[in-house]
Amino acid sequence: MTETTRASWGSKIGVMLAAAGSAVGLGNLWRFPFCTAQNGGGTFLLIYLICSFTIGLALVFAEAALGMKTKSDPTGAFGWISPRLKFIGGLCVFTSAIILPYYSVVGGWILAYIVKVFSLSSIVNFETAFSDFSSSPVQPLIFFYIYLLGSAAVVYFGIQNGIEKFSKIMMPMLFILLLILMGRVLMLDKAWEGIKFFFAPDFSKLTGETLMNAMGQVFFSISVGMGIYITYGSYVKENTVTVSQLMWPVIFLDVLISLLAGLTVFPAVFSFNVPINAGPALIFITLPQIFASIPFGQFFGLIFFIILLGAAATSSISLLEVVVTCLCDQIKMTRQKAVICFTSVCLIIGTLVSLSFGRLSGFKIGGKILFDQFDFLASNVLLPLGGFLTCVAIGWILGPEKLVVFQNRALQKSFEFCIKWLAPASILLILFKSINLI
Ligand code: PHE
Repeated sequence: MTETTRASWGSKIGVMLAAAGSAVGLGNLWRFPFCTAQNGGGTFLLIYLICSFTIGLALVFAEAALGMKTKSDPTGAFGWISPRLKFIGGLCVFTSAIILPYYSVVGGWILAYIVKVFSLSSIVNFETAFSDFSSSPVQPLIFFYIYLLGSAAVVYFGIQNGIEKFSKIMMPMLFILLLILMGRVLMLDKAWEGIKFFFAPDFSKLTGETLMNAMGQVFFSISVGMGIYITYGSYVKENTVTVSQLMWPVIFLDVLISLLAGLTVFPAVFSFNVPINAGPALIFITLPQIFASIPFGQFFGLIFFIILLGAAATSSISLLEVVVTCLCDQIKMTRQKAVICFTSVCLIIGTLVSLSFGRLSGFKIGGKILFDQFDFLASNVLLPLGGFLTCVAIGWILGPEKLVVFQNRALQKSFEFCIKWLAPASILLILFKSINLI
């Protein structure tokens, strides 16, 4: 697509909210609290903050700068560094394509819980209710289809009329609702104990493992390694704004929402003495159980699931947009055709992934059902790999000094050091760890 005909964002705040929408998702609201719980509370929080503002920030800035410079999808952007590197962009697009179907299955569950929230109080056993629902053959599929088609509709309408408008409504709403929910939870009896656990560092828990888990969380939460910021950056109008003006708020918002999520989940969980490190069960079993037992709980449960839906939807549309931009830029499809083609593929793959909790639960690859296999492949292998190759391409082949993201010399030098040394070395560690090499 030539620069004159390429779509663009309508405003600075629009692109910032869309990028923040991609970053803020289930990773902040669900994965962050239980990772923190499993890794020693305050200690984990501290490392998470340091990693976010160093490695995470450097990668986000590098990706966005590359997109803004090349005005192209990830394959075109890496191809600009060197035609041999196009495959890195291909890998980014592939990763997005792998994540979208299973992320949308979870999106469908959230949608279903919104619909069912008013019957929460009639549920006797929340665990059975969740497993009955997720393993049933029809209901989760219907909600998954609605969720995916809804996300596809936003992308279908394009950058300004679809993604930007949607993010401008969703993100402020999500923020306000989260504040309301946090306010309610902080009034619970033992809220203070949860807050203490969240903030008080326990340095005896500081191990190599904690460090690696914190870095893994940062990569997932900030959405790096799959070309999202390259894609979004490619729609920024020339010379209207600098990378750091755009991306500082994104990192800041991502961290802020994680903190607010911690301040909501920990007080709730501590007040009700339920296990915090429940993993996926936390949002679909533990928290609904809590909401069912407080006054006006259904109302707060509804708020909670709407927050989750908004956060998940803005992340899903960014994944879809990566693939759609690639199809438009590389094989010159129209946006509408690209959305229809790729959504159809996702509907098929997602159907299989959804059924892997029920009818297809016997079908396992490497001992894992399809859903877990997709999640493992994406979060533990493809994302770190994408992040690592991005660092190599920018830090070693292009040269990070070619991407000027800070006017301040010391900051620019630290950015270059992060992209060239700190980030790739850390990612390599995570990668080896996740495939059990160390
Ligand atoms: N960053 C998102 C979150 O926090 C997760 C995500 C991963 C979104 C990959 C898009 C792509 O949930």
